[in-house]
Amino acid sequence: MDQVKFTAMKDGDKEDYDFLGHHEAAFAKGTADRLLGALEALDEGLSGYQVTRLEHSLQAATRAWRDGADVDWVVSALLHDVGDIFAPYNHDEYAAAILRPFVREQCAWVVEKHGDFQLLYFGHYVGADPEKRQAHKDHPYFEDCTVFCERWDQSSFDPGYDMKPLAFFAPMVRDVFDRVPHDPDVIQPGKRVPLVGA
Ligand SMILES: [Fe+2]
Ligand SMILES: [Fe+2]
Repeated sequence: MDQVKFTAMKDGDKEDYDFLGHHEAAFAKGTADRLLGALEALDEGLSGYQVTRLEHSLQAATRAWRDGADVDWVVSALLHDVGDIFAPYNHDEYAAAILRPFVREQCAWVVEKHGDFQLLYFGHYVGADPEKRQAHKDHPYFEDCTVFCERWDQSSFDPGYDMKPLAFFAPMVRDVFDRVPHDPDVIQPGKRVPLVGA
C-alpha cells in the first residue's frame, strides 16, 4: 500500500487510517528541518531594516542564549517571527501555534503576545496604541513578555551585533521538535522560568 484507497475521507477504513498515521508520524519528524528552511527563507523577507529577518531572529536567539535562558526560550526567540512569511498580520499567533506543542506554555504565550507588547516602541508612530500590552496586565506572563521584547526583540536590529549562525541553533531546534507533542512535563502550565540567568 503506498496510498489510501478512498477519494472522500468518510469512505476510508482502518487500514487507510493506520497507513496515514504512519505516514504522518514520519512527516512530522521533518518539522525541525522544515522550520530551519523557513528561517533561511526569512533572509529574503521584509526589507528596509538594517538587518534581514533571519539576522533579527539570530540576534534575538543569540541574546537569549547569552542571557543564560533555557532551550525553550532560545528556540522561541529564534522562531518568534517565523510567521512573517505567511501571516504578516498575525505573525505572532502563527509562530506561537508552531511552538505551542513543543515548548513551555510560558514561552508560547510570550511569542503569541509579543506583537502587542512590541507596540510600546513604535505604536505612537504608526497610529497604534503603544500600551496595547495593558490588555494583558493581569496575566502571570506579562512581565516575561516585557523582558522578552525589551532584551531580545526590540534590540535585535543591529548590523554590528556578533550573532551566532543558524547552524549553532539547529541542534536546539531539532531537540525541541523531537519532543513528544503536548507533553505535560514540557508544557508545565503556569510555570515561570526566568529569561535571564536561570
Ligand atoms: Fe515579531
Ligand atoms: Fe521580532
